[in-house]
Amino acid sequence: MKDMVVLSGTRSTGSLHLGNYFGAVENWVNLQNEYNCYFFIADWHSLTTGYENTENYVHNINEVVMDLYASGLDPQKCNIFLQSKIQNHAELHLLLSMITPLSWLERCPTYKDQLSQLSEKDIRTYGFLGYPCLMASDILIYRADAVPVGEDQLPHLEITREIARRFNFMYQEVFPEPKALLTKAKVLPGLDGRKMSKSYDNTILLKDESEVLRTKIMSMITDPARIKKTDPGHPEICSVYAFHKVFNEAEAPSICESCKKGEIGCVACKKNLYGKVSEFLSPIQERRKFIEAKPSLIREILEKGNANAKIKTDDTMNMVRKAMKINWE
Ligand code: TRP
Ligand code: SF4
Repeated sequence: MKDMVVLSGTRSTGSLHLGNYFGAVENWVNLQNEYNCYFFIADWHSLTTGYENTENYVHNINEVVMDLYASGLDPQKCNIFLQSKIQNHAELHLLLSMITPLSWLERCPTYKDQLSQLSEKDIRTYGFLGYPCLMASDILIYRADAVPVGEDQLPHLEITREIARRFNFMYQEVFPEPKALLTKAKVLPGLDGRKMSKSYDNTILLKDESEVLRTKIMSMITDPARIKKTDPGHPEICSVYAFHKVFNEAEAPSICESCKKGEIGCVACKKNLYGKVSEFLSPIQERRKFIEAKPSLIREILEKGNANAKIKTDDTMNMVRKAMKINWE
């Protein structure tokens, strides 16, 4: 199976949170044992919405590498690399942009959503419209067979397959059509009950410990109908309960019952959860401290991954230029 290529990326928006972990990284850690995996930090993708503020650009990349390592990605088992160091991605993006109809990009549901949601940012740019074409290049340049992503990325993967098909038909068969490996999503809301997201400021970071973690958990929104401990609760609408289902599977059913009967208070319920989350994060934070104390490891990890990514993508680019009959030599 190690010859099946699996590829995925994460935008470099800074330290990873539990939503990133359960939405993607946990799955990557499992896949690295079975497949030929390429996992990368999509730093160019973070420019599509964050081009104005590049103050923390490099810092954010390093944070992501440290958190991926801390989460259990093993540079001996998979390739961890940085998109902007593999300039072949940019060349393929340019070539694929020639054959990508504008209508495919304009029609993309994530494009329309983001335009209306991020109304305070000016993302009416060429680069932002081309986001799916860049993502297609990231994937096709490894001739990936499978791409582990969350559901929100499915429209991009669909465009990727369409671009691959168009290229193969127009020139020569070069790209396999990549399949999505959907992460069986553990549903973990943010502290306020909405989706956990950096832009909502409702996250728990993998590196949050002791007081920071405790304060965040104690501030979580519970069932608003519960004023007194004896008020019967509705655990299904409570974020704390959603967390218990992930971090405290054994006790979750009894917590559900006692909450409904008004037998436990929210403060005690949160304290219990704090213990469980903190236990879960502890080995991750230990590995994080290890790499923080040895920053040369960040460079080592990326240099190794970048070198392998370069070999693979040089190969694809030769095939692409040949198929398109555009190699001058
Ligand atoms: N768009 C992805 C996200 O926001 C990140 C990404 C960029 C990606 N290129 C990719 C994911 C290629 C998978 C494959 O999460
Ligand atoms: Fe939520 Fe626990 Fe309070 Fe019930 S007791 S509402 S599950 S925090």
